[in-house]
Amino acid sequence: MAVNMKFVILLSTVAFLQVCVTASACNIPSRFWCDSKEIALQCGVYEQCKKYQWTLRQDATPVDFTLYYESLCPDCKQFIPRILYPTYLKLASITNLTLVPYGNARERQVGSRWEFTCQHGQEECLGNIIATCTIAIVKNIDVYFPFLNCMEATNQQPRTAAEQCATQFKVPLNEILNCTTSDYGNQLEHQMALKTDALVPRHKYVPWVTLNGVHTEAIQYEAQYNLKKLLCDAYQGVKPPACSSV
Ligand SMILES: *[C@@H]1O[C@H](CO)[C@@H](O)[C@H](O)[C@H]1NC(C)=O
Ligand SMILES: *[C@@H]1O[C@H](CO)[C@@H](O)[C@H](O)[C@H]1NC(C)=O
Repeated sequence: MAVNMKFVILLSTVAFLQVCVTASACNIPSRFWCDSKEIALQCGVYEQCKKYQWTLRQDATPVDFTLYYESLCPDCKQFIPRILYPTYLKLASITNLTLVPYGNARERQVGSRWEFTCQHGQEECLGNIIATCTIAIVKNIDVYFPFLNCMEATNQQPRTAAEQCATQFKVPLNEILNCTTSDYGNQLEHQMALKTDALVPRHKYVPWVTLNGVHTEAIQYEAQYNLKKLLCDAYQGVKPPACSSV
Protein backbone atom coordinates (compact mmCIF):
# COMPACT_ATOMS: atom_id res chain seq x y z
CA MET A 1 0.00 0.00 0.00
CA ALA A 2 2.64 2.48 1.11
CA VAL A 3 4.88 1.41 -1.70
CA ASN A 4 2.09 1.80 -4.27
CA MET A 5 1.29 5.26 -2.96
CA LYS A 6 4.94 6.22 -3.11
CA PHE A 7 5.07 4.99 -6.67
CA VAL A 8 2.02 6.96 -7.73
CA ILE A 9 3.42 10.13 -6.19
CA LEU A 10 6.74 9.46 -7.79
CA LEU A 11 5.18 8.78 -11.15
CA SER A 12 3.15 12.00 -11.01
CA THR A 13 6.24 13.96 -10.08
CA VAL A 14 8.25 12.40 -12.85
CA ALA A 15 5.31 12.84 -15.24
CA PHE A 16 5.27 16.56 -14.53
CA LEU A 17 9.01 16.86 -15.03
CA GLN A 18 8.89 14.80 -18.18
CA VAL A 19 6.16 16.92 -19.71
CA CYS A 20 8.19 20.03 -18.98
CA VAL A 21 11.57 18.74 -20.01
CA THR A 22 11.37 16.08 -22.67
CA ALA A 23 7.81 16.02 -23.90
CA SER A 24 8.86 14.90 -27.34
CA ALA A 25 10.91 11.93 -26.12
CA CYS A 26 7.98 10.45 -24.18
CA ASN A 27 4.49 11.28 -25.39
CA ILE A 28 2.97 8.19 -23.83
CA PRO A 29 0.43 8.40 -20.96
CA SER A 30 2.17 7.74 -17.65
CA ARG A 31 0.11 4.66 -16.80
CA PHE A 32 1.87 2.83 -19.66
CA TRP A 33 5.39 3.81 -18.69
CA CYS A 34 6.27 0.57 -16.96
CA ASP A 35 4.75 -1.62 -19.67
CA SER A 36 8.10 -2.37 -21.23
CA LYS A 37 11.75 -1.69 -20.58
CA GLU A 38 11.96 0.31 -23.81
CA ILE A 39 9.15 2.66 -22.83
CA ALA A 40 10.49 3.02 -19.28
CA LEU A 41 13.92 3.95 -20.62
CA GLN A 42 12.46 6.38 -23.14
CA CYS A 43 10.41 8.03 -20.42
CA GLY A 44 13.25 8.16 -17.92
CA VAL A 45 11.56 6.02 -15.26
CA TYR A 46 13.47 2.76 -15.69
CA GLU A 47 14.86 2.68 -12.15
CA GLN A 48 11.49 3.59 -10.62
CA CYS A 49 9.63 0.90 -12.60
CA LYS A 50 12.27 -1.62 -11.62
CA LYS A 51 12.02 -0.72 -7.96
CA TYR A 52 8.28 -0.30 -7.48
CA GLN A 53 6.55 -2.20 -10.22
CA TRP A 54 8.66 -4.94 -11.79
CA THR A 55 9.68 -6.34 -8.43
CA LEU A 56 6.27 -7.98 -8.30
CA ARG A 57 6.41 -9.62 -11.70
CA GLN A 58 5.72 -13.35 -11.80
CA ASP A 59 8.00 -13.90 -14.78
CA ALA A 60 11.22 -12.49 -13.35
CA THR A 61 14.25 -14.40 -14.57
CA PRO A 62 16.17 -16.57 -12.10
CA VAL A 63 19.34 -15.20 -10.54
CA ASP A 64 22.50 -16.39 -12.30
CA PHE A 65 24.87 -17.83 -9.73
CA THR A 66 28.10 -19.47 -10.86
CA LEU A 67 30.57 -21.42 -8.75
CA TYR A 68 34.16 -21.82 -9.94
CA TYR A 69 35.75 -24.63 -7.97
CA GLU A 70 38.15 -27.55 -8.03
CA SER A 71 37.21 -30.99 -6.83
CA LEU A 72 39.63 -31.47 -3.92
CA CYS A 73 40.09 -28.00 -2.44
CA PRO A 74 39.16 -28.14 1.26
CA ASP A 75 37.11 -24.93 1.18
CA CYS A 76 35.14 -26.20 -1.84
CA LYS A 77 34.50 -29.46 -0.01
CA GLN A 78 32.98 -27.35 2.79
CA PHE A 79 31.15 -24.74 0.75
CA ILE A 80 29.35 -27.12 -1.59
CA PRO A 81 27.87 -29.63 0.89
CA ARG A 82 27.34 -27.22 3.77
CA ILE A 83 26.13 -24.08 2.03
CA LEU A 84 25.52 -24.25 -1.70
CA TYR A 85 23.71 -27.56 -1.97
CA PRO A 86 21.22 -27.12 0.90
CA THR A 87 20.52 -23.53 -0.16
CA TYR A 88 20.05 -24.53 -3.78
CA LEU A 89 17.54 -27.21 -2.76
CA LYS A 90 15.42 -24.46 -1.18
CA LEU A 91 15.91 -21.80 -3.87
CA ALA A 92 16.17 -23.82 -7.10
CA SER A 93 13.07 -22.06 -8.46
CA ILE A 94 14.80 -18.66 -8.44
CA THR A 95 18.39 -19.74 -9.09
CA ASN A 96 20.16 -20.51 -12.36
CA LEU A 97 23.16 -22.32 -10.92
CA THR A 98 26.24 -23.07 -13.02
CA LEU A 99 29.14 -25.19 -11.80
CA VAL A 100 32.58 -24.73 -13.36
CA PRO A 101 34.95 -27.45 -12.13
CA TYR A 102 38.47 -26.28 -12.97
CA GLY A 103 39.57 -23.72 -10.37
CA ASN A 104 43.31 -23.14 -10.05
CA ALA A 105 44.22 -25.77 -12.63
CA ARG A 106 46.50 -25.02 -15.57
CA GLU A 107 46.36 -26.40 -19.09
CA ARG A 108 48.69 -26.72 -22.03
CA GLN A 109 48.09 -28.06 -25.47
CA VAL A 110 49.89 -31.28 -26.42
CA GLY A 111 49.05 -32.24 -29.98
CA SER A 112 45.28 -32.26 -30.36
CA ARG A 113 44.64 -32.67 -26.64
CA TRP A 114 44.90 -30.57 -23.50
CA GLU A 115 47.04 -31.56 -20.57
CA PHE A 116 45.79 -30.39 -17.18
CA THR A 117 47.81 -29.75 -14.02
CA CYS A 118 45.82 -29.37 -10.82
CA GLN A 119 46.59 -27.73 -7.48
CA HIS A 120 45.86 -30.95 -5.56
CA GLY A 121 47.41 -33.29 -8.09
CA GLN A 122 46.16 -35.62 -10.80
CA GLU A 123 43.38 -37.00 -8.57
CA GLU A 124 41.89 -33.52 -8.51
CA CYS A 125 42.08 -33.31 -12.31
CA LEU A 126 40.16 -36.60 -12.44
CA GLY A 127 37.56 -35.22 -10.01
CA ASN A 128 37.20 -32.09 -12.14
CA ILE A 129 36.71 -33.99 -15.38
CA ILE A 130 34.27 -36.45 -13.78
CA ALA A 131 32.21 -33.42 -12.74
CA THR A 132 32.55 -31.80 -16.16
CA CYS A 133 31.50 -34.98 -17.99
CA THR A 134 28.60 -35.51 -15.58
CA ILE A 135 27.31 -31.99 -16.25
CA ALA A 136 27.54 -32.48 -20.03
CA ILE A 137 25.99 -35.95 -20.08
CA VAL A 138 23.25 -35.61 -17.46
CA LYS A 139 22.39 -31.99 -18.38
CA ASN A 140 19.67 -31.60 -15.73
CA ILE A 141 21.22 -29.93 -12.67
CA ASP A 142 18.53 -31.32 -10.39
CA VAL A 143 19.85 -34.79 -11.29
CA TYR A 144 23.60 -34.15 -11.41
CA PHE A 145 24.02 -31.76 -8.47
CA PRO A 146 23.03 -34.36 -5.82
CA PHE A 147 25.69 -36.66 -7.31
CA LEU A 148 28.39 -33.98 -7.51
CA ASN A 149 27.54 -32.79 -4.00
CA CYS A 150 27.91 -36.37 -2.76
CA MET A 151 31.36 -36.51 -4.40
CA GLU A 152 32.41 -33.29 -2.64
CA ALA A 153 31.00 -34.41 0.72
CA THR A 154 33.07 -37.59 0.93
CA ASN A 155 36.76 -37.94 1.72
CA GLN A 156 37.20 -40.73 -0.81
CA GLN A 157 39.33 -40.12 -3.88
CA PRO A 158 37.27 -39.09 -6.94
CA ARG A 159 37.06 -42.47 -8.68
CA THR A 160 35.85 -44.26 -5.53
CA ALA A 161 33.62 -41.33 -4.64
CA ALA A 162 31.99 -41.46 -8.08
CA GLU A 163 31.36 -45.20 -7.78
CA GLN A 164 29.84 -44.86 -4.32
CA CYS A 165 27.76 -41.79 -5.14
CA ALA A 166 26.47 -43.35 -8.36
CA THR A 167 24.86 -46.13 -6.34
CA GLN A 168 22.98 -43.48 -4.35
CA PHE A 169 22.20 -40.96 -7.08
CA LYS A 170 21.39 -42.39 -10.47
CA VAL A 171 23.82 -41.18 -13.13
CA PRO A 172 25.23 -43.16 -16.10
CA LEU A 173 28.59 -43.86 -14.46
CA ASN A 174 30.11 -45.93 -17.29
CA GLU A 175 29.34 -43.29 -19.82
CA ILE A 176 30.76 -40.62 -17.50
CA LEU A 177 33.99 -42.54 -16.85
CA ASN A 178 34.30 -43.24 -20.56
CA CYS A 179 33.96 -39.53 -21.22
CA THR A 180 36.76 -38.65 -18.79
CA THR A 181 39.39 -40.34 -20.98
CA SER A 182 37.89 -39.39 -24.35
CA ASP A 183 38.78 -36.49 -26.65
CA TYR A 184 35.24 -35.24 -26.02
CA GLY A 185 35.81 -35.06 -22.26
CA ASN A 186 39.20 -33.45 -22.85
CA GLN A 187 37.54 -30.72 -24.92
CA LEU A 188 34.80 -30.25 -22.33
CA GLU A 189 37.38 -29.67 -19.60
CA HIS A 190 39.18 -27.24 -21.89
CA GLN A 191 35.89 -25.30 -22.11
CA MET A 192 35.84 -25.11 -18.29
CA ALA A 193 39.41 -23.75 -18.44
CA LEU A 194 38.34 -21.09 -20.96
CA LYS A 195 35.35 -20.07 -18.84
CA THR A 196 37.54 -19.78 -15.75
CA ASP A 197 40.31 -17.89 -17.50
CA ALA A 198 37.76 -15.47 -18.99
CA LEU A 199 36.75 -14.21 -15.53
CA VAL A 200 37.02 -10.44 -15.03
CA PRO A 201 38.46 -9.85 -12.52
CA ARG A 202 40.51 -13.05 -12.67
CA HIS A 203 39.80 -15.42 -9.79
CA LYS A 204 42.28 -15.30 -6.94
CA TYR A 205 41.08 -18.32 -4.94
CA VAL A 206 38.46 -21.05 -4.91
CA PRO A 207 35.59 -21.39 -4.29
CA TRP A 208 34.97 -18.23 -6.37
CA VAL A 209 31.46 -17.06 -7.14
CA THR A 210 29.71 -14.66 -9.47
CA LEU A 211 26.19 -13.27 -9.07
CA ASN A 212 24.59 -12.30 -12.38
CA GLY A 213 28.08 -12.47 -13.84
CA VAL A 214 29.61 -10.14 -11.27
CA HIS A 215 32.24 -10.88 -8.64
CA THR A 216 32.92 -8.51 -5.74
CA GLU A 217 34.34 -9.14 -2.29
CA ALA A 218 30.91 -8.29 -0.84
CA ILE A 219 29.15 -10.86 -3.06
CA GLN A 220 31.75 -13.48 -2.21
CA TYR A 221 31.42 -12.76 1.51
CA GLU A 222 27.63 -12.93 1.49
CA ALA A 223 27.69 -16.11 -0.60
CA GLN A 224 29.79 -17.77 2.08
CA TYR A 225 27.97 -16.38 5.12
CA ASN A 226 24.39 -15.76 3.97
CA LEU A 227 23.82 -17.26 0.55
CA LYS A 228 20.06 -17.42 0.99
CA LYS A 229 19.83 -13.68 1.58
CA LEU A 230 22.13 -12.97 -1.35
CA LEU A 231 19.97 -14.94 -3.78
CA CYS A 232 16.64 -13.78 -2.36
CA ASP A 233 17.68 -10.11 -2.44
CA ALA A 234 18.94 -10.44 -6.01
CA TYR A 235 15.73 -12.03 -7.25
CA GLN A 236 13.42 -9.45 -8.84
CA GLY A 237 10.21 -11.46 -8.75
CA VAL A 238 7.79 -12.61 -6.06
CA LYS A 239 9.98 -14.18 -3.39
CA PRO A 240 9.37 -17.87 -2.72
CA PRO A 241 8.38 -18.84 0.88
CA ALA A 242 11.93 -20.10 1.53
CA CYS A 243 13.11 -16.48 1.36
CA SER A 244 11.06 -15.42 4.36
CA SER A 245 11.98 -18.30 6.68
CA VAL A 246 15.02 -17.62 8.85
C1 LIG B 1 22.01 -19.67 -16.86
O1 LIG B 1 23.32 -19.19 -16.76
C2 LIG B 1 24.15 -19.46 -17.88
C3 LIG B 1 25.51 -18.85 -17.62
O2 LIG B 1 26.11 -19.40 -16.51
C4 LIG B 1 23.57 -18.87 -19.13
O3 LIG B 1 24.35 -19.24 -20.24
C5 LIG B 1 22.15 -19.36 -19.32
O4 LIG B 1 21.58 -18.70 -20.40
C6 LIG B 1 21.33 -19.09 -18.08
N1 LIG B 1 19.98 -19.67 -18.22
C7 LIG B 1 18.87 -19.00 -17.97
C8 LIG B 1 17.61 -19.74 -18.13
O5 LIG B 1 18.89 -17.82 -17.64
C1 LIG C 1 32.78 -46.05 -24.28
O1 LIG C 1 33.51 -45.56 -25.41
C2 LIG C 1 33.61 -46.42 -26.48
C3 LIG C 1 34.42 -45.76 -27.60
O2 LIG C 1 35.40 -44.93 -27.10
C4 LIG C 1 32.23 -46.83 -26.99
O3 LIG C 1 32.33 -47.76 -28.01
C5 LIG C 1 31.40 -47.39 -25.83
O4 LIG C 1 30.09 -47.64 -26.28
C6 LIG C 1 31.38 -46.41 -24.67
N1 LIG C 1 30.65 -46.98 -23.54
C7 LIG C 1 29.70 -46.31 -22.88
C8 LIG C 1 29.06 -47.01 -21.75
O5 LIG C 1 29.40 -45.17 -23.16
